[in-house]
Amino acid sequence: MVIYKATDYKDMSRKAANIISAQVIMKPNCVLGLATGSTPIGTYDQLVEWYQKGDLDFSAVTSVNLDEYKGLSHDSDQSYYYFMHKHLFDRVNINPDQTHVPNGMEPDSAVECQRYEDLIHSLGGVDLQLLGLGNNGHIGFNEPEEAFETVTHCVNLTQSTIDANARFFATKEEVPTQAYTMGIKTIMQAKKILVVVNGEGKADIVKRAFFGPVTPSVPASILQMHNDVTLVGDAAALSKINL
Ligand code: F6R
Repeated sequence: MVIYKATDYKDMSRKAANIISAQVIMKPNCVLGLATGSTPIGTYDQLVEWYQKGDLDFSAVTSVNLDEYKGLSHDSDQSYYYFMHKHLFDRVNINPDQTHVPNGMEPDSAVECQRYEDLIHSLGGVDLQLLGLGNNGHIGFNEPEEAFETVTHCVNLTQSTIDANARFFATKEEVPTQAYTMGIKTIMQAKKILVVVNGEGKADIVKRAFFGPVTPSVPASILQMHNDVTLVGDAAALSKINL
């Protein structure tokens, strides 16, 4: 594993964007695995800035996102589809037909998960997968104790996640209770993995995930078994590991 220590969030975002840019420049028709959440927003902003300067061309890139809430339509501002369009897809020249997010509106989980897994394989797999890290070590929606061998599947959200999301919705009924996510196996099949972390709140889990035992109780710990992982963190997130 290669670890890059950034001074702050802006520096972390720039370093991560550099790695993604290198991938796009070296292989213009690459498949990027993308993540939502707060951590990668600065990375997407940096990519947009370089695109606007004329330094990056996304026209041949294909993307596949990690996850999506089941039951949320594209125009729900809580959907990951909406997030990706807002933060990246609508701001660069990626072909919208070549951007893929699990379809939250497909009610049949088995159908959607198989379709998504087949899609990733038909694209030849993911060249570079971007990941954020959950406070409990989750990656995608793979929560502690998920079997390491899972492919794309439907997860039941924990009550605490459902409760935390409730504030974003007008009624309780609208709050998603399930999500589709790439599994740990799907993620591990990516050729390269880039993990971004920032903030003091992530310092403990960074240490457990990358320097503790490999265990399903810390899903990200499996990344220690991948042969091409880059971790980019700001000083606060990397403060509990010796570099
Ligand atoms: C996002 C995702 C999640 C987040 C994780 C960290 O698509 O699947 O695993 O990466 O929850 O989120 P932030 O970056 O908000 O701390």
